[in-house]
Amino acid sequence: MSKRIAILGAGPSGLAQLRAFESARRAGAEVPEIVCYEKQSDLGGMWNYTWRTGLDAYGEPVHGSMYRYLWSNGPKECLEFADYGFEEHFGRPIPSYPPREVLRDYIMGRIERWGLREQIRFNTAVQWVEYSDASGRFSVTVRDVVKDELATEEFDHVIVATGHFSTPNVPYFEGLEHFPGRVLHAHDFRDACEFQGKDLLLVGSSYSAEDIGTQCHKYGARSVTFSYRSAPMGYDWPDAFEERPLLLRVEGNTAHFRDGSSREVDAIILCTGYQHHFPFLPDGLTLRTRNRLYPADLYKGVFWIDNPKLVYLGMQDQYYTFNMFDAQAWYARDVIMGRLELPPVAGMRADSLAWLAREEAAASADDEIDFQAAYTRDLVDCTDYPEFDIEGMGALFKQWMQHKREDILGYRDRSYPSTVTGTRAPVHHTPWMEAMDDSMEAFLNQPEALRKSA
Ligand SMILES: Cc1cc2nc3c(=O)[nH]c(=O)nc-3n(C[C@H](O)[C@H](O)[C@H](O)COP(=O)(O)OP(=O)(O)OC[C@H]3O[C@@H](n4cnc5c(N)ncnc54)[C@H](O)[C@@H]3O)c2cc1C
Ligand SMILES: NC(=O)c1ccc[n+]([C@@H]2O[C@H](COP(=O)([O-])OP(=O)(O)OC[C@H]3O[C@@H](n4cnc5c(N)ncnc54)[C@H](OP(=O)(O)O)[C@@H]3O)[C@@H](O)[C@H]2O)c1
Repeated sequence: MSKRIAILGAGPSGLAQLRAFESARRAGAEVPEIVCYEKQSDLGGMWNYTWRTGLDAYGEPVHGSMYRYLWSNGPKECLEFADYGFEEHFGRPIPSYPPREVLRDYIMGRIERWGLREQIRFNTAVQWVEYSDASGRFSVTVRDVVKDELATEEFDHVIVATGHFSTPNVPYFEGLEHFPGRVLHAHDFRDACEFQGKDLLLVGSSYSAEDIGTQCHKYGARSVTFSYRSAPMGYDWPDAFEERPLLLRVEGNTAHFRDGSSREVDAIILCTGYQHHFPFLPDGLTLRTRNRLYPADLYKGVFWIDNPKLVYLGMQDQYYTFNMFDAQAWYARDVIMGRLELPPVAGMRADSLAWLAREEAAASADDEIDFQAAYTRDLVDCTDYPEFDIEGMGALFKQWMQHKREDILGYRDRSYPSTVTGTRAPVHHTPWMEAMDDSMEAFLNQPEALRKSA
C-alpha cells in the first residue's frame, strides 16, 4: 500500500509541498497519495483577502490578516519561485513591489499550471490529529464546514502548513476597556479609509506597525504614533509620525507612555504580532515557539524531532518566503520518499541546537538575512530543487533595508533585477504614495514606454 500524506493548509507552504511531490511524479517517481485539507474555499492562504473578521460563515476563526491596499513589503525578486518566474507568469517583466492581488495571482498560477487543485479538499477544517504508536500512523479528523460533517482518515505523515500570522497576540494595557474609540488588533484591520482624519496609536515596532501606519497616513489619517516595547523603528519619519516608548495606560482618549509623555488619540491598533497556535494538535506534537528564525525542536527547521513523521512548514520568522517554503517542501518530500535519511534523534537535536546557537549570534538584520540564506542553502543543496541565487537574493534584501532607511514612504518605488532571469524590473507607473488603486488591473496597466526594464 502506498504511503498517505496529509497536508494541512493550502497557503504558499502547503502548496509548495503539493508542487514538490508533483515535480517528483513528473520526473517518473512513484509518489505517495496526498490529501491537502484547507478550511477556506480557495487556495492562497494569507494572500486571500476577506472582509470578514472574527469567525467565518461556518464558525471557524477567520484566517486572513491581510487588508485592502496591501502591497508587498519586500521586493518580489526575493520571493520568486525558482521553477516558475514572474516573467513566465505575467508574460513580461513587472515592477518590484506588487499589491496583494498580483502576488496571489502568481501563487495560483503555479498551481493551475501543474493542475494541483484537485488534490485540495476545500471548506475542510482540521479539528484533531492523533498519532498511534501501535499503527505508526496518524488519524486526522476534519469537518466539512459546508455539510457540517466530521470525518477521520489515516495517514503515514502529516505536514502542518497552517501558517503562524493568524492568531493574534493581544496584550492588555490598563484602561483599554474604557477607551472611547476603536481598539483592534492588526489581524482585524481591513481598510485604512476608516481612520481618515484620525490620530492613531499603533503599539508595536515591526512590519505590521510600519505598514499599517504608513498605509493609514497614505489614506488620510491625521497622525500616527508608534509605541515600541524594545526599540523604535528609527526611520526618518515625516512630521505626521512619531515614535514613543511603550504604552503604560489609557485614560479617556489620553495614552500615557513609559517616558512620562502622553498623547490624545482616536483609535488604537495593536500591532503586537501573532501566536503559533495549533488547536488541532495534542501536547506531544505541538510546536511552541515565539516568532523567530529557527524555532526549537525541529530538525532542519521542519521535522518534529520527537516524531519526525510530523513536519512543520513555514514556521520561521521570514525574510525569505515562497522559495524557502519550496526548499523545505522539497527536503521533506525527499525524506518521506526515502531519498534522504534522517539522523538518529541525538543527531537531529545536536544539529538543531547548532542552528539555534547560530541564530542567537545574529546581531543585526544583515546577520539575520545571512542566517536565513544559509539555512535555505543547506536545504536546497540536498535536493533537486532548481538552483537559484539565494545569496544574491540576500544582497537584494540588504539593499531593500537600506532603501527603507533612505525613504520609508518611497522605498516601493525602487526596482531590482530578478536573480532568476536577470531582468531588471520596470519602475511602476505611479509612485506608491499616489497609487490609491491596488487592483491587479491598475498595477499591470503600465504605459508601453514604462514596460521595459529600468
Ligand atoms: C499582513 C501580512 C502581510 C504579509 N506580507 C507579506 C509580503 O509582502 N511578502 C511575503 O513574502 N510574505 C508576507 N507575509 C507572510 C505570509 O504569511 C507568507 O507570505 C505566506 O502566506 C505564508 O504561507 P503559509 O502557507 O505558511 O501560511 P498561510 O498563508 O497563512 O496559509 C495557511 C493556510 O492554512 C489554512 N488553515 C489554517 N488552519 C487550518 C485548519 N485547522 N484546517 C484547514 N486549514 C487550515 C489557512 O486557511 C491557510 O489557507 C505577510 C503576512 C501577513 C500577516
Ligand atoms: N505589507 C506587507 O507586506 C506586510 C504588512 C504587515 C505585516 N507583514 C508581515 O506580517 C508578519 C508579522 O509581522 P508583525 O509586525 O505583525 O509581527 P512581528 O514581526 O512578530 O512583530 C511583533 C511586534 O509586536 C511587539 N510586541 C509583542 N508583544 C508586545 C507587547 N506585549 N507589548 C508591546 N509590543 C509587543 C514586538 O515588540 P518587540 O520588538 O519588543 O518584540 C514587535 O514589535 C511579518 O512576516 C511581516 O512581514 C507584511
